[in-house]
Amino acid sequence: MGGGSFTEADTERFYDSQDSHYRTFWDSEGSLHWGVFDERTGNDFLKASANLNEIMAQKALIDEKSTVIDLGCGNGNTSIWLAETHGCEILGVDLSGVRIDNAAAALASRSHELRQRVRFEKASVTALPQEEASFSHAWSQATFYHVHDKAAALREAYRVLRPGGILIFDDLIKPASEVSEMAREYVYNRLLFDTDYDFESYQDALRAAGFEVLDAADLSEHLARSYARLAELADGASGDDGHLRALAFAYQKMVTCIENDEVGWAMYACRK
Ligand SMILES: C[S@@+](CC[C@H](N)C(=O)[O-])C[C@H]1O[C@@H](n2cnc3c(N)ncnc32)[C@H](O)[C@@H]1O
Repeated sequence: MGGGSFTEADTERFYDSQDSHYRTFWDSEGSLHWGVFDERTGNDFLKASANLNEIMAQKALIDEKSTVIDLGCGNGNTSIWLAETHGCEILGVDLSGVRIDNAAAALASRSHELRQRVRFEKASVTALPQEEASFSHAWSQATFYHVHDKAAALREAYRVLRPGGILIFDDLIKPASEVSEMAREYVYNRLLFDTDYDFESYQDALRAAGFEVLDAADLSEHLARSYARLAELADGASGDDGHLRALAFAYQKMVTCIENDEVGWAMYACRK
């Protein structure tokens, strides 16, 4: 299993510490995933990021009868959005206690009715405290790539879903088995991950975990467009901040690595 030398504790430390930096250029509200561009979004990154939410919610058929677990909910933006716009109940879990506290703080200012339907809890997606068959939907954005034991995460998603329940998620994939030094430095080591899965073998892993794959989309071109736009946004926000300038540079390299098929992005919808 690909996993590099990073531990879950490294990932937790990273997400406990980096929030304010990302809010300066990615999304001031704190969401942290990529976007799908179309004629309605134009080149607007936040619209593209919101567009991914819409696409996933529609594919998964989430409505007011749904009970959802958001695996790696981060600052809770999408969980709150899903409950607000699609009427579901939702539990957001994340490894980072800082992000869970941020999510709870964002929820605190919302209506009593919304607060009845949304909860946040610190947990790893590889060892969920929830009981078997607790949810109609498992949702995840930009999180599984951090998980070394992806089979364990898929097993856990399967376990907590009811029979017939839907797992919808996006994740990074590795189209090429060998990657360049540049990809190691600016993609894999920088993002603290590695993976054995390409677009097809990910689907084999989902089937091995017991899922029926309903829908699979290779979104790599949108990942490249997301990083091209994020490079501009980080550069524009950088001022004297060397860390942001370095990020903007890394994002440009990331675009090249995506174009070289050294990293890609996919979305899957599956049924238990
Ligand atoms: C790129 S952020 C995405 C956050 C959120 N889904 C969003 O779209 O804004 C990745 C998140 O995954 C969380 N994460 C990483 N590994 C995890 C694990 N094993 N269990 C739960 N959360 C994890 C991180 O703490 C971080 O909040």
